[in-house]
Amino acid sequence: MKSIYYISIDASTFSACLPYVSKPEGCNMRRMSNLITLFTAITAFFFGCFITKILTIVDKCPAHKSGVAKLEPHPNLFLMVLIMSAPRNVEQRNAMRETWLKLGQPLQQPYFPEENIYLPAYGARGHLQMETVTSQANRLRLYMDWAAKLPYMDAPKTKRTIQVKHFFAIGMQHISSVVRAELAREQSQHNDLLLLPRLHDAYTNLTEKLLQSIDALTHHYEFSYLIKVDDDSYVKLDNLLNVLISYDRKLLRKSSEYRHEQLPQLYWGYFNGRATIKSKGQWSEPNYYLSKHFITYALGGGYVISRKLCEFVANNSQHLSTYVSEDVSMGTWLAPLRHVYRWHDPRFDTTYVPRACRSHHLVLHKRNEVRMRDLYMGKLCSPEQSSARSLPAEYYYDWSKPVDKCCDSLVV
Ligand SMILES: *[C@@H]1O[C@H](CO)[C@@H](O)[C@H](O)[C@H]1NC(C)=O
Ligand SMILES: *[C@@H]1O[C@H](CO)[C@@H](O)[C@H](O)[C@H]1NC(C)=O
Repeated sequence: MKSIYYISIDASTFSACLPYVSKPEGCNMRRMSNLITLFTAITAFFFGCFITKILTIVDKCPAHKSGVAKLEPHPNLFLMVLIMSAPRNVEQRNAMRETWLKLGQPLQQPYFPEENIYLPAYGARGHLQMETVTSQANRLRLYMDWAAKLPYMDAPKTKRTIQVKHFFAIGMQHISSVVRAELAREQSQHNDLLLLPRLHDAYTNLTEKLLQSIDALTHHYEFSYLIKVDDDSYVKLDNLLNVLISYDRKLLRKSSEYRHEQLPQLYWGYFNGRATIKSKGQWSEPNYYLSKHFITYALGGGYVISRKLCEFVANNSQHLSTYVSEDVSMGTWLAPLRHVYRWHDPRFDTTYVPRACRSHHLVLHKRNEVRMRDLYMGKLCSPEQSSARSLPAEYYYDWSKPVDKCCDSLVV
């Protein structure tokens, strides 16, 4: 007996994805039509699998954790500006768009001298050597001298075009249709909103918001540095860019001196090593049992992190503990990495209330729309600031001391 086995298909085949074999039958016509069914079915089956596969890839790849599927391309960014903004804060966003986000584009300042930039070397045991308090003080003085002369310096012949892009991150879950429509209008006008479809925008979710934003931006853009600010932060973007460019150039120029060590990765801001863990109020933190104080972190009014650190956070976002404060979380996430260069800088006025106004401040936290416009017009201090109550002191960071003595060397 000629044993011709052929495959016939029934409905169960599709779900099981496995054709089953049945006994041969006598009729050729029947066999023929069965064969046609077979081929149609197999084709349909593989086509189905293919489509499923494609859809899964589309769903998984560009979305990642944040669920942000698409953003306008923009190659070769030097600085990404990430502004955490509440859905309704359109006035703040407009004030920023009309003031500091326009600074330094193009950059018309002469280069900030590279010799005024500190680069840490690795010590004998592979730790980055932190800058001493004396050196921090000298460098601040050098910067102040440079900035004071700036208006009298010859403008450079060539303007520098520095690629900067900004985004206001906003969570889109559970917002009213009215606000949603307003945001859509704002987006069509400015195209600078990072709308996070999977995030409920509440202050309890700020850390989750930070993670999703860094995840989305890192996967969609190539950039060298990211500055995270709030929507009540003012940045002297031209000066900050100039200093950051000099740091970056110096690092590149000196990269061979690091030999087989990893290049330092920048974490730049105003650090605190002895912040108390609150047990009451809005910022109470019930889950921080790692230490008596929050592990040294840069205050959240503004800090800069380099590309590799963004990648580290994005790549590990599923594994990281999210604490109530996003800035505390960032400090803790980066704590064990040995190539992190923590650049403490009194030019970041990022304390919970503004410190006494100083012209050397580059990042100024807690400024409303009116203050932002004042600052943009060159007015340094607001009336309420000049009538100084007890403002927080400004300090250099003493990395050689235990954390409870980190912050006693005051800037005079
Ligand atoms: C955000 O906060 C709300 C309640 O405050 C919570 O239900 C939600 O799971 C949080 N997470 C995200 C990602 O939105
Ligand atoms: C993050 O993941 C990407 C993709 O897998 C990889 O190319 C990159 O080197 C990773 N970066 C870090 C710092 O882990």
